[in-house]
Amino acid sequence: MEILPLKYLDTKATGDIVSRVIADVDTFADGLLMGFTQLFTGVLTIAGTLIFMLIYNIPITLVVVCLTPVSFLVAKFIATRTHDMFAEQSKTRGEQTALIEEMVGNQKIVKTFSREEDVKETFGEINGRLQKCSLNATFYSSLTNPCTRFVNSLVYASVGIFGAFLAIRGGITVGRLSCFLSYANQYTKPFNEISGVITELQNALVCAERIFALIEEEPQVAEPADAKVLEEAKGVVELEKVSFSYVPEKKLIQNFSLKVAPGQRVAIVGPTGCGKTTVINLLMRFYDVDQGCICVDGTDIRNLTRGSLRTNYGMVLQETWLRGGTILDNIRMGKPDATREEVIQAAKEAHAHSFIKRLPNGYDTVITEDGGSLSQGQKQLLCIARVMLCLPPMLILDEATSSIDTRTEIKIQNAFARMMEGRTSFIVAHRLSTIREADIILVMKDGNIIEQGNHESLLASGGFYANLYNSQFAG
Ligand SMILES: Nc1ncnc2c1ncn2[C@@H]1O[C@H](COP(=O)(O)OP(=O)(O)OP(=O)(O)O)[C@@H](O)[C@H]1O
Ligand SMILES: [Mg+2]
Repeated sequence: MEILPLKYLDTKATGDIVSRVIADVDTFADGLLMGFTQLFTGVLTIAGTLIFMLIYNIPITLVVVCLTPVSFLVAKFIATRTHDMFAEQSKTRGEQTALIEEMVGNQKIVKTFSREEDVKETFGEINGRLQKCSLNATFYSSLTNPCTRFVNSLVYASVGIFGAFLAIRGGITVGRLSCFLSYANQYTKPFNEISGVITELQNALVCAERIFALIEEEPQVAEPADAKVLEEAKGVVELEKVSFSYVPEKKLIQNFSLKVAPGQRVAIVGPTGCGKTTVINLLMRFYDVDQGCICVDGTDIRNLTRGSLRTNYGMVLQETWLRGGTILDNIRMGKPDATREEVIQAAKEAHAHSFIKRLPNGYDTVITEDGGSLSQGQKQLLCIARVMLCLPPMLILDEATSSIDTRTEIKIQNAFARMMEGRTSFIVAHRLSTIREADIILVMKDGNIIEQGNHESLLASGGFYANLYNSQFAG
């Protein structure tokens, strides 16, 4: 997961990936374990009985040795046919996990739109398919054992007949023959067991295919061997003729150029879906540019280590992200060795202290990974406190205060203003009051910059920005 490009995770169903990592690995392990134990004892038994049979009578042994592998052929025939059924089973199970994952996460939305019955129907449909293909796979694969046993019985009968003729001609005594028959029986048994395991292995192999497909997925572009580590960045950020699109058919950002001096504040505004967050994704190198380049302190970010580039940015986003653990651990995320006092100081600056204090266990309150018990705004305050704590040289605020009430927002704006002093910052905001102070305001539309300047000059030019601004402050 950690080396895959974000693009992969963005386009695949989470539940299917989870199913690969949990269910498929489990089945694979079970199959291998069973396969190997059977194989090991089987091979030993075969070798042992073979020696004794050879001692008793070589011609009959040859008959046994030649005929027994027929059961493998039968098992193989069935296994190749069940392979597709097992593949279908794994795929459907992935689909089912994906649906369950989605339903657990989005139950509120399901209830809001009264989709319960539809969802149940969808689940029933997938479950029905899973039942059908599991049944098929299990039924056909369990045919293996009876079939191979039938073949083995044929071998047994052949040995009996061949041995009887030999005994009549005096080639073997009846006592030896009956002894031999019991060895022949012993000898064929492991073949039976091993071929039974082949179906088990077949299932394991199908799961292995899905696991390896994930493992062999193209990882993100490797860092060059001489990738530089970006220490404390000065904060010169340059975008040169950058073009980028998530999907090749749908052009998004084209020929985007921008030069930001250290300590400058850049605000990006524009209608929903114009590509503001995308610019941020490119700056953080969550996605690589298709053309052009982005340089920080004069070095192309593709020649920097990803880790060092990202630690130089402090980021607060539209969607908040918390992990299971205490409030303290959550704030400490970017700076694990911070003391309790430092954490409290940062929380105070982010105006999160007062609500944290009111939680049952204060800073030691354990929250779940989706922060279930916190309000959206509280989660965002925690994320702000997190950045306040590590204070990296560059900042990215993408709608960082979108969920916070106006009064707290004004207070946080002041904290942000202090924090941004001397730090190159990128701010995305819909509320234009929050970006008036920016040094450069970029107005974006459909992935392009249509206006650029500071607040006064943009207002004076009377373009898109002036329109937007006046519509927010009409009257
Ligand atoms: N992972 C993705 N894969 C494909 N297309 C995407 C992806 N993320 C965003 N897009 C598309 O790219 C365009 C720009 O999205 P972006 O998130 O940059 O908008 P935005 O300006 O941040 O909007 P908002 O103000 O709503 O946050 C949108 O049309 C969106 O549908
Ligand atoms: Mg956005």
